Parts: sequence; C-alpha cells; structure tokens
Amino acid sequence: MIRKFLQNCRKPQGRLGRFVAQGMNSGHASISAWGLTHISPAKDASVLDIGCGGGANLKRLLQICPDGHVTGIDYSEESVAVSRKVNAAELGKRCDIVQGSVSALPFDDNAFDAVIAFETIYFWPNPGTDFREVCRVLRPGGVFLICNEAHDPSNDTYTSKIEGMRIYSESMLAELLSGLGFKITGVDTHKRGWLCLCATNNESTS
Ligand SMILES: C[S@@+](CC[C@H](N)C(=O)[O-])C[C@H]1O[C@@H](n2cnc3c(N)ncnc32)[C@H](O)[C@@H]1O
Repeated sequence: MIRKFLQNCRKPQGRLGRFVAQGMNSGHASISAWGLTHISPAKDASVLDIGCGGGANLKRLLQICPDGHVTGIDYSEESVAVSRKVNAAELGKRCDIVQGSVSALPFDDNAFDAVIAFETIYFWPNPGTDFREVCRVLRPGGVFLICNEAHDPSNDTYTSKIEGMRIYSESMLAELLSGLGFKITGVDTHKRGWLCLCATNNESTS
C-alpha cells in the first residue's frame, strides 16, 4: 500500500491519485513557502509551474503576482483536476492549467518571466532535454526555480520504492543547467535538508 501511495507521487492516478494530489498541497506547504521566498517576480509577471500537482503553488503565485498570470502544467489528469478545483476562482482569467509533459511544453518561446518546479524533476524523463524546453519558454533573463526535498543521490529510501525516480545533487543540477547556458544565481539549503536552486536564462545566449 505504501509503495502504491508513493507511485502516485510520480504520477497521481485514479482515486488514490486524487487523494495524493490533495495531500501534497498540505504536505508540501512548508517547503513551498520556503522555496517561493527565493524568487521575487513582478506583480504582473507571467509564471509557469511545471508538475503543478494539487495546485497550491499556483494559488500562492496568484497572490504573489496580483496583476499577473499563472499557468500550471502536469501530465497527470488527476493533478490537473485537483489544481483546477483549487484555483477555480481564477481559472480562465488569471490562471490556466493544462495537461501535458515537460518534455513538450505547449507554450511559445520566451512566454514566461519565471518557471518553477517543486518536487517534480525527480520524475522528468530526461532533465538534459527537459531543461532545454524550460529554457525555450523562459524569456531571456527569466528565472528558473527548482526546489527539492531530496538531493542526495546516494540515499535510496525513495528511489528504491518509486519506479523511475532519480535524485539530483546540487552539483549535478548546476552542471546540467550551465551546459545549457543557464547562469546559476542562487543555491540554498534548509536545515530540514531541502534544496533550492535558482538559475537565470542567460540573456546573451537567447
Ligand atoms: C511529487 S508531485 C509535486 C507536486 C507539486 N509541485 C508540489 O510541490 O506539491 C510531482 C508532480 O509532478 C508531475 N510530473 C512528474 N513528471 C512530469 C512530467 N514529465 N511532466 C509533467 N508533470 C510531471 C506529477 O504528475 C506530479 O503531479
């Protein structure tokens, strides 16, 4: 049962998936609040949340950017459904939530001022090419925020139980992102072991 529950963190599916997506909103509240202090988007910014899960971060972003627009994307039908419910008041106005994969983002080049990815890159099929997709949709000088609870690749507590999960250290992420022309602008760790990394889409390469 625990294994089934954990699999649903990778891709919420069915009734259990819906329950897990809702649970992530409360379970990730602390790391989300901490992680979001590392960016300061303009009030009218356009922000994308990849792997938006239950949509709590979209709701926070709507408050941080009162004149802006937030977009969520997740490849799980259940995550999209829960996110839409949680953000129903702004849906179709200042908020859009679509089902899709990070590997083929259905957005124009340079569409966003900031892109966030909380607790999700562990499950992306190919971070090298997926980060390239992020780079494409992020405007020159825009910020990419990655926030993860787990960043010790040698710790297999979760990777042994969740199929396809991979953990990235700070240096692995920095190397991947730098190779794509991102500039690492900040790295922070929380006393509870969380990692937050910010990178900017290098203006000179775009
Ligand atoms: C552990 S949850 C985190 C959800 C939310 N970001 C949070 O912090 O509460 C991971 C989410 O990423 C989504 N996800 C995983 N791989 C994805 C991919 N390749 N493309 C889009 N979404 C993905 C999952 O469906 C799931 O909703």
